[in-house]
Amino acid sequence: MNTTASIPHLVGKDHQPNQQCTKRHTGNMPSQTMPSESNFTITYMLKNSGDKTNFGITIEGLDLNDISDADVKALSDAIWTHKVVVVKGQKDLHPTKQWELVTRFDPESPQVHSHGDLKTFAKQGGVLSAGREVTGIPGAENVRLIGKGFQGEDHYGIKNMNILRCLSNDFHADKLSDEDFRAGNSRFQRWHMDAPLYGKEPAWFTTLRCIKRPTEPEMNIRWDDGSGLSMKSEPGLTAFFSNVQAYELMTEEERKVADHSWVEYAPLPYVWISKCSGRANGLGLETEGKELSIEELGEYDEDSVKRYPMVWVNPITGERAFQVHGICARKLYLRSSTDEEPHVIENVEEIRAFLKPIQERVLKPEYIMLPKMEEGDIIMWANYMIFHTAVDYPIEFGPRTMHQANIGGSIGPAQMGLFEIPAA
Ligand SMILES: [Fe+2]
Repeated sequence: MNTTASIPHLVGKDHQPNQQCTKRHTGNMPSQTMPSESNFTITYMLKNSGDKTNFGITIEGLDLNDISDADVKALSDAIWTHKVVVVKGQKDLHPTKQWELVTRFDPESPQVHSHGDLKTFAKQGGVLSAGREVTGIPGAENVRLIGKGFQGEDHYGIKNMNILRCLSNDFHADKLSDEDFRAGNSRFQRWHMDAPLYGKEPAWFTTLRCIKRPTEPEMNIRWDDGSGLSMKSEPGLTAFFSNVQAYELMTEEERKVADHSWVEYAPLPYVWISKCSGRANGLGLETEGKELSIEELGEYDEDSVKRYPMVWVNPITGERAFQVHGICARKLYLRSSTDEEPHVIENVEEIRAFLKPIQERVLKPEYIMLPKMEEGDIIMWANYMIFHTAVDYPIEFGPRTMHQANIGGSIGPAQMGLFEIPAA
């Protein structure tokens, strides 16, 4: 089924920074047919001068413990449309209600986290799970406790947990010095979308509730890639850029190739790159020849290997996103039209050389957003349209407690592209 055909392709709305308004939402989700209407307050996220981001809103007036079907639909449409949404005032949101909301966003999907249960995540998570403690909330195991430091005497039944292994700057090949880090410098950890890229489909949305985080001192995020770029941030935030904007920054010739090309991801992709290290700006891997060979990967299921188009189409706005998870890409199939034989690139160095200049164009302070999260806020993002990354901070700044949940999409990117990928 090609879902894009049955989904309304509305004209992308111009983003109007700093404007406060209330909107009524209408529109259809891929798996739903009932139109919906709802009222809640939307505020476009504040921008600094020179900021070129065109996404991000704040919502007030919702109680996610008790949300109607119409509001779930309106919220879902808002996430697709604005890509990053912060819902204020969810301090009392119960983990079971967070999970229930996630399942209501995509009721056709199997009721489990997009990375599977914790045992599957530990086994197949590779680079995602190796250096990191992830715990399910008792009674709502698909809601994951992620964070840093001491989580309290009794956190929803989790007693005296101290998270020592967490998202950090260790992933970079060229590591930030401890001295620079302690002085308040940091980096983007690893730009990505939340996607297993093997077996289950990526989650349409990820939800992340902020329970605790430090708000000072101000951090300095450095690119350290020779560009000299840097930007300021409060500690404990998540950074985002839009792959719709990455697409818009491509040349006409590049877009022609992207529109007709696809990517084959490695089997067990995060195990495949489990010995690899990232570039200092967090985007892509250093080429060190450390990917596992197919033999080293051991047994895998050929049917679970993912082949996705390079361009994913927003089911609500019709916008196109250049959505290539470069670190897991094993083969590129490039062509400029549907009747052309694809040129296949299998060498990871060549794959990276193709992707780097395109994806780095948007990796600039003016295209990056670090939405402010206050305790009790929950942030939700359209995983199929953007990349995000953690930014580490020294534990001396204070503990961080977050509840993360998402669900594998019932409709995947192969059905949200511009063409049907030819059979292998
Ligand atoms: Fe993530």
